[in-house]
Amino acid sequence: MATTVTWLGHSTFEIVSGSHRILIDPFFTGNPSATTTAAEVQPDFIVVTHGHGDHVGDTVEIARRTGALVIANFEICEWLGRQGVENLHAQHIGGAFQHPFGVLKLTIAHHGSMLPDGSNGGNPCGVLLKLPEGTLYHAADTGLFLDMQLIGEEGIDTAILPIGDNFTMGPEDALRALRLIQPKRVIPAHYNTWPLIAQDATAWAERVRAETSTEPVVLQPGESTSLG
Ligand code: NI
Ligand code: MN
Repeated sequence: MATTVTWLGHSTFEIVSGSHRILIDPFFTGNPSATTTAAEVQPDFIVVTHGHGDHVGDTVEIARRTGALVIANFEICEWLGRQGVENLHAQHIGGAFQHPFGVLKLTIAHHGSMLPDGSNGGNPCGVLLKLPEGTLYHAADTGLFLDMQLIGEEGIDTAILPIGDNFTMGPEDALRALRLIQPKRVIPAHYNTWPLIAQDATAWAERVRAETSTEPVVLQPGESTSLG
């Protein structure tokens, strides 16, 4: 069965691999681009990349309702524990762990990570998922960094890159990121949620096709693609 990658709007993605459902940065409540709700999703695993409200999102509510294992950096896991989330797995930058669905490694990201109540969210992360059918890199919120080249050396089938600008890389730096990572395919994210991060993803995809060897996959919120 193919591994599916579904964009649920903003930076929220659901990965279905075999019998496993992995939800990354589950932001539904207050997300104008969300096509589903926190009450409807049914993940086995939740990954939180950093502490900002548009990434922690509905994690507490979904984790409490479903009992899904939440994977995040140590500081965010400590905070989630204080919110009554019990099923937690803390990792940190550079550390990989074999989960039931595959190997998850946290990577660096250049950004902030303060939690919604002002608590310290540790350092922000990206996430590398080595699944049976391929490797996915969700860069999450970050500026461009040269070490993306090291992440690319892991052999990336699908990269998810922010293109919204202002808070993260914009379209231009996301093109430079592709030259460092050299993924087979790229899905743009973290744009068009609000006017401040409005971008023309179709125009960006044309440049990806013309200027890199990566295949762009532009999704609408709610749409899916396969990982490989
Ligand atoms: Ni952020
Ligand atoms: Mn964000």
